[in-house]
Amino acid sequence: MSNVTVIGTQWGDEGKGKIVDWLASRADIVVRFQGGHNAGHTLVVGEQVYKLSLLPSGLVRGKIGVIGNGVVVDPRALMIEIDRVTAQGLTVTPETLWIAENAPLILPVHGALDRAREAARGDRKIGTTGRGIGPAYEDKVARRAIRICDLAEPETLDWKLDEVLLHHNTLLAGLGADTFTKEELKAFLAEITPRLLPYSCAVWDRLDDARRAGRRILFEGAQAVMLDVDHGTYPFVTSSNTVAAVAASGSGVGPNSVGFVLGIAKAYTTRVGEGPFPSELYDAVGRTLGERGHEFGTVTGRPRRCGWFDAVLVRRACRVGGVSGIALTKLDVLDGLEEIAICVGYELDGEKITSFPSAPGAQARVKPIFETMPGWNETTAGARSWAELPAQAIKYVRRIEELIEAPVTLLSTSPERDDTILMRDPFED
Ligand code: IMP
Repeated sequence: MSNVTVIGTQWGDEGKGKIVDWLASRADIVVRFQGGHNAGHTLVVGEQVYKLSLLPSGLVRGKIGVIGNGVVVDPRALMIEIDRVTAQGLTVTPETLWIAENAPLILPVHGALDRAREAARGDRKIGTTGRGIGPAYEDKVARRAIRICDLAEPETLDWKLDEVLLHHNTLLAGLGADTFTKEELKAFLAEITPRLLPYSCAVWDRLDDARRAGRRILFEGAQAVMLDVDHGTYPFVTSSNTVAAVAASGSGVGPNSVGFVLGIAKAYTTRVGEGPFPSELYDAVGRTLGERGHEFGTVTGRPRRCGWFDAVLVRRACRVGGVSGIALTKLDVLDGLEEIAICVGYELDGEKITSFPSAPGAQARVKPIFETMPGWNETTAGARSWAELPAQAIKYVRRIEELIEAPVTLLSTSPERDDTILMRDPFED
C-alpha cells in the first residue's frame, strides 16, 4: 500500500478535482503542499456543488484536510471558504483541518503588488490571478514573510510588519499604487488571528505519526508542471514548484512518502493567462473544445485557450514530475470530431526539434508539428470499461501512451465520479 501524489502535467485545469475527489474517498488524509487560492476546482457531491480553492478536497469526503507549509495562505480567503462550505453542511474543525504553523501568509500588500505589477507590465503581463501568490512566495524566500506561528507573538509581528511595509510600500509607491499603514495590517491580522490560530499545528509531526500508523495519505498538487517556476514556461508560470518532489518539502515528510505519482492530463490542452502554447487552436475546433469542455477558469472565470494534445510537453512533465502513471481526462470532449491531431514535435527557425526550448523568444517562435488521426463518431461519455470505448478512441489513448512514454492508468469519461476506467489502483501499487 502506497501514498499517492496527484499533479497536473499541462497548464492546470486538467480535471484534477474529480480524480482527487475519487482518490480522497479512499484516503485517510488529503494534503495540499504548494500554491494558494489561485487554484480552484468544483466538486459535485450529490446535490451539493463545492467550489474549493484552498481547502483540501478530502474535507468534502469527511477526511482530514491538511494545508502544508509549502502553501501560501490568504487567511481571509480561507475563512470565507470555510464559512461557505460550513453553510453547505460540512464541518470544519481543528480536528479535521490542520494548517502548518510555518506556512506563510498572503497579506493585502501582496495582492496589491501583484495587481500593480501586472498593470505596469502592460502587453508583457503574465496573466496572474491577481491574488498575491507571487509576492507572498517572494517574501518567503526573502525571509520577510509573516508565518502563521508569528500571529501568537505580538513582539515578533511588530518588527516583521515594519520590514514588510518598508519593502512593499517602496514598490507600491514606485508603481503609483496606494500604500498601506501598519495599523491597517495590524487590524487585518487582529481580525483573522483568533479564527486562524486554532487550526495551526506542527503538520510535519502529525503526518509522521499518520505515516507510522499506516494511514493513507493523498498529496493534492495545484496548478501543473508547465506552470512550475523552474520547469514550466518561465516567466509565464506560477511562483511555486508544482512537481511531485514538492509534496515532501511542502508538507514536511521525506521523499519516500510521496508514493505513486499520478499525473493528470487532459485529452487536449488548455491554458489560462498569457504565455506560449504551441498547439493552440484559433479556429472553430478550438471553440468547440472550449464550449464542450466548459473551459472557463474556476477562480477567475476567464475563458481558457484551447488546443490539441501536446505530447512533447506532457512527456517532459512526466519526466521532471516523476510521474508513475497518467489519468487521462475529458476524452469525451473529443467525441464526434472528424480528425484529431497530436503535437509530436516543433519547428524552430526552420529546424525540427523534439524538445521545448527554454528561452522565451524561442518558446514564442516554435511551430507545432502535428500527427493526425481519424476521430470517432460514437460517444465515450460515461464509459466505464475499455470494451465500451470505440476502437479509434483506444488507438488515440495508446498513441498518447507511446508518445509520452508513460502508462495511462486511469481514464475519466465524464464529470461523474464513477465514469472512470481504472487500469491500476494507485493506492495498491
Ligand atoms: P499566479 O499563480 O496567480 O501568480 O498566476 C501565474 C500563472 O499561473 C497565470 O498564468 C495563471 O493563470 C496561472 N495559474 C495559477 N493558478 C492556476 C490554476 O489553478 N489553474 C490554471 N492556471 C493557473
